[in-house]
Amino acid sequence: MKPREIRRGVHWVGAIDWDRRLFDALIPLPDGTSYNSYLVRGSEKTALIDTVDPTMEEVLINHLNQLDVRNLDYVVANHAEQDHAGTIPRVLEKYPQAKVVCTPKCKGMLIDLLLIQEERFIAVEDKETISLGDRTLEFIHAPWVHWPETMLTYLREDRILFPCDFFGSHLATTDLYVTDEGQVYEAAKRYYAEIMMPFRTTIQKNLEKVRDCPIDIIAPSHGPMHDKPDFIVKAYHSWAYDEPKNIVVVPYISMHGSTRKMVEYLVEALAQRGVTVKQFDLAVTDIGKLAMSLVDAATVVIGTPTVLAGPHPNVAYAALLANALRPNLKFASIIGSYGWGGRTVEQLTGMMPNLKVELLEPVLSKGFPKEADFKALDNLADAIAEKHKEHNLA
Ligand code: FEO
Repeated sequence: MKPREIRRGVHWVGAIDWDRRLFDALIPLPDGTSYNSYLVRGSEKTALIDTVDPTMEEVLINHLNQLDVRNLDYVVANHAEQDHAGTIPRVLEKYPQAKVVCTPKCKGMLIDLLLIQEERFIAVEDKETISLGDRTLEFIHAPWVHWPETMLTYLREDRILFPCDFFGSHLATTDLYVTDEGQVYEAAKRYYAEIMMPFRTTIQKNLEKVRDCPIDIIAPSHGPMHDKPDFIVKAYHSWAYDEPKNIVVVPYISMHGSTRKMVEYLVEALAQRGVTVKQFDLAVTDIGKLAMSLVDAATVVIGTPTVLAGPHPNVAYAALLANALRPNLKFASIIGSYGWGGRTVEQLTGMMPNLKVELLEPVLSKGFPKEADFKALDNLADAIAEKHKEHNLA
């Protein structure tokens, strides 16, 4: 892919990573990703906004050569994570006069993470601007998107917002702008769920900050750009502000079929009561899909057999992940089976202290579920349906 012009003197110079399938050694990337970097030339100065993952640094350097960039004054680092900042040292080496522009906190992190020398930095305060001559970059501090040092860069004259991870989507595509809103909605929601959901209240504040800027284009650092910004801003509003919906998420593991039988019975019972259920077998599920489902769900019911006196390790992993993601859940329960005893409920609830949920009566079956267990599952389905109704969850 060659550099691509967005406006006269403003170019996309990023890299597309079609084959990457895992991020942070944790997050599945079913559709690859891109690391978007942008070159902004003013009448007097030139700035590069974010760089690319260090595995693709030569792609960025080639783009700068193709555009015959001989002088670079500023490298704007909206975020210190390596997929955007990791090529800054290589760019600074190529352009010895260039300065890194970032928040004071980001400066410290880039010194720690990338060993960049202190004299190479210009730290900017919230709403501070830098003139490129006939163009102005305004820096908007927007912490916790999804690290504490993050900021957004706004190119005033062209009304382009460069928000880095904010409004981004892990999606490798040749499309410069969103063409398939359904596909981008799914990818952006997955990204929100995986890294921004834990910071929902600060995301709300950052959405308010963005409201002040007239925006023609949102140019994130992953996925296609938004030339109809309302689409993604409205989606973020709904994820960050909306009450949970009439949805139950059921992540589970079954070793010999007892827990699976209970899960299937409960899912049917909930569906009969008008509740939407999303069922995930943790032995095979894409953890990103599970995270996405937690954005909207009101209730989680975890299904697990008892293994070595506690929950199955895959279930423990999902519980720890849910605890870290802090979804806006209201209710939770635990179902499953055991052979002779154990402390499954105590251990699982102890793994999720961040979830401010009401725990509904767990149902644990000794061996394969029997009539009394099915009755208890019916009672649990009744309780969930009633709680959802009481809270007017649509
Ligand atoms: Fe795309 Fe937080 O890095």
